[in-house]
Amino acid sequence: MKYGYFDNENREYVITRPDVPAPWTNYLGTEKFCTVISHNAGGYSFYNSPEYNRVTKFRPNATFDRPGHYVYLRDDETGDYWSISWQPVAKSLDEATYEVRHGLSYSKFKCDYNGIVATKTLFVPVGEDAEVWDVVIKNTSAQPRTISAFSFVEFSFSHIQSDNQNHQMSLYSAGTEYKDGVIEYDLYYNTNDFEGFYYLASTFDPDSYDGQRDSFLGLYRDESNPLAVEQGKCFNTAQTCYNHCGSLHKQFVLQPGEEVRFAYILGIGKGLGAKLRTKYQNVAEIDAAFAGIKAHWDERCAKFQVKSPNAGLDTMINAWTLYQAETCVVWSRFASFIEVGGRTGLGYRDTAQDAISVPHSNPRMTRKRLVDLLRGQVKAGYGLHLFDPDWFDPEKADVKPSKSPTVVPTPSDEDKIHGIEDTCSDDHLWLVPTICNYVQETGEETFLDESIPYADGGVATVYEHMKAALDFSAEYVGQTGICKGLRADWNDCLNLGGGESAMVSFLHFWALQSFVELAKYRGEQADVDKYTLMAEGVRKACENHLWDDEGGWYIRGLTKDGDKIGTAQQAEGRVHLESNTLAVLSGAVSQERGEKAMDAVDENLYSEYGLHLNSPSFATPNDDIGFVTRVYQGVKENGAIFSHPNPWAWVAETKLGRGDRAMKFYDALNPYNQNDMIEKRIAEPYSYVQFIMGRDHQDHGRANHPWLTGTSGWAYYAVTNFILGVRTGFAGLEIDPCVPTNWPGFEVTRQWRGATYNIKVENPNGVSKGVKSITVNGGAIEGNVVPVQAEGSINEVVVVLG
Ligand code: NOJ
Repeated sequence: MKYGYFDNENREYVITRPDVPAPWTNYLGTEKFCTVISHNAGGYSFYNSPEYNRVTKFRPNATFDRPGHYVYLRDDETGDYWSISWQPVAKSLDEATYEVRHGLSYSKFKCDYNGIVATKTLFVPVGEDAEVWDVVIKNTSAQPRTISAFSFVEFSFSHIQSDNQNHQMSLYSAGTEYKDGVIEYDLYYNTNDFEGFYYLASTFDPDSYDGQRDSFLGLYRDESNPLAVEQGKCFNTAQTCYNHCGSLHKQFVLQPGEEVRFAYILGIGKGLGAKLRTKYQNVAEIDAAFAGIKAHWDERCAKFQVKSPNAGLDTMINAWTLYQAETCVVWSRFASFIEVGGRTGLGYRDTAQDAISVPHSNPRMTRKRLVDLLRGQVKAGYGLHLFDPDWFDPEKADVKPSKSPTVVPTPSDEDKIHGIEDTCSDDHLWLVPTICNYVQETGEETFLDESIPYADGGVATVYEHMKAALDFSAEYVGQTGICKGLRADWNDCLNLGGGESAMVSFLHFWALQSFVELAKYRGEQADVDKYTLMAEGVRKACENHLWDDEGGWYIRGLTKDGDKIGTAQQAEGRVHLESNTLAVLSGAVSQERGEKAMDAVDENLYSEYGLHLNSPSFATPNDDIGFVTRVYQGVKENGAIFSHPNPWAWVAETKLGRGDRAMKFYDALNPYNQNDMIEKRIAEPYSYVQFIMGRDHQDHGRANHPWLTGTSGWAYYAVTNFILGVRTGFAGLEIDPCVPTNWPGFEVTRQWRGATYNIKVENPNGVSKGVKSITVNGGAIEGNVVPVQAEGSINEVVVVLG
């Protein structure tokens, strides 16, 4: 079944049937003020942290995605009312038509009902801590119409727990005031004029208003039938205590064909509602702000554009996958309809991987995240798996506690810096290739010499931090020389402790390869020698201890007692995705073993929805392996199609030169390809999800946890750098595609360090890999590395495969 389509020209997903089987969400905001909003206009806003600075409320895990950011319309002659978004009033789809356009950082809702066509466009202007609702109401009937408009948001008690528990202090800790078209909401503990002040303003002069939620909704009612809307005006409430909302009402008389346009503004900061209200009374300012959002994404998307024979790949790479990857870099894993703010902070490994994907489109944020992560690394070399960057930022260290003393923890060093038994074995290693990639993209070599403190004291350069990460993994190895599993590796549920993790050793090898390349480039010969030797030791340990000859694949690891995990002898958890894909991706293994390992992945883990994480799933609890053996079969880490490592398989196949196989795996996971089977997928088709139910679960094919997943960054990085094969290097732009044999060619436009490269790849002999010749602006070059071109230049690059 199909609920909408991709509009590539506008970079929008258009929902034409609102009764989608789950709320399909979008992200508004590019930096600090964020709204997670569904196609029903359900959702919530927060400033910086959804845990501590929630602006509006949301009730997660309910059958409805409520409350939200709503506009109700009422026909004042008949008393009939509806909402511009289908929910919450939900008119019958036989009498009203609804359309939702989720775009990059905006969502546009349209409703055509009974001769009134209304639109509501929500977006957060670049550089502003406010959400603008651009509303247009048009009378398309033949009679004059009297229409009332009402806004509705439910203000939050600022901290997620207060929202959920409604404990007695929360109920008496906030109040609303109304003045000149602005409802201002004030939390009692305010010590400044910004955080803790939220507002809802309108560009019109309201006829009535409500700041008290229960007055607006009425007793024993909900958002679907508010008393104020039913009666045609608000109750003019604003006072301290209880639950609060922002409703501003205005009546309009519209002649046939006439339309009215106005805005609501939801934001943070005392007095700013009045200021922005005045600003947006000029509709040219609304248009300019919206154009600013468009320009923001035009600029980012333009860094890499592809035209290939695979329409789904083009749609996702040119807009949606980049957009999702950037969303993860900014909002980590803490703000969605699943994670609603109870776990704010940066996951070390998540952010370290996300940051590899967007140094070209968002170098500033990538750099910030790298610094955050380096500050969250301890001297011994490991990273703190979940941490608040503010803990380690001297400028911010004492800011939060003074603002909201009742809810913000002030962790002791002991709480912040956990010991080795609570350390993840992979976190720190991802940082190394990500930093190399950042320097290759930006050319900012001085970053490597910047001094950054460790979380537990002491300072070192970025380059030294990288060495500490590599040294840690060299030290913490088990009996066979393979890295210890510790609390967990990439797989949160594989808890090997002193046992050993194959995937971490392969990851260690990959990080070492990246680092040695960097050290060579810097002319650090002693480091080249030391880490080349280390890498060789890791490679030998992997080849000697991790290959399962009977199965023809790499095992996943060893328990602390030396029992192998993932062999042909085992009935459960025989084949694993992470170890086999990283074995090949890292370059640690031979072509022959690599091909066998990836054939085993195809044979044992492939499904039409993507690659399973392991198969068969575990059915017998075994605490030496970890919590994974206690997770339901076919779910999450236990035999689901866990999306994140799927792109590792695409990269692995490109390393083997098998472009058809890489594309087969890519196509299976691509949400675009599931647009026509939503009854199975359920989740939105424009976003990768964390996992899809595996074949050992009755809901096989159902996609769960959209948006905040490392899949997006990896999918983007894998396709752009390895399938299309346009990647930055220290010496220039490397061109090394690995594509399906039936691709006659493709085109990429890549902006890099101020120059544009229009790359046309031709594939006359139907090969997957191998560059036969390259010309740059008509002149042939040796090899496959295009030298860095002058800033501002536009360069025509023709590549022939063969
Ligand atoms: C989601 C977590 O955010 C991520 O860090 C982890 O690698 C995967 N789950 C797999 O366990």
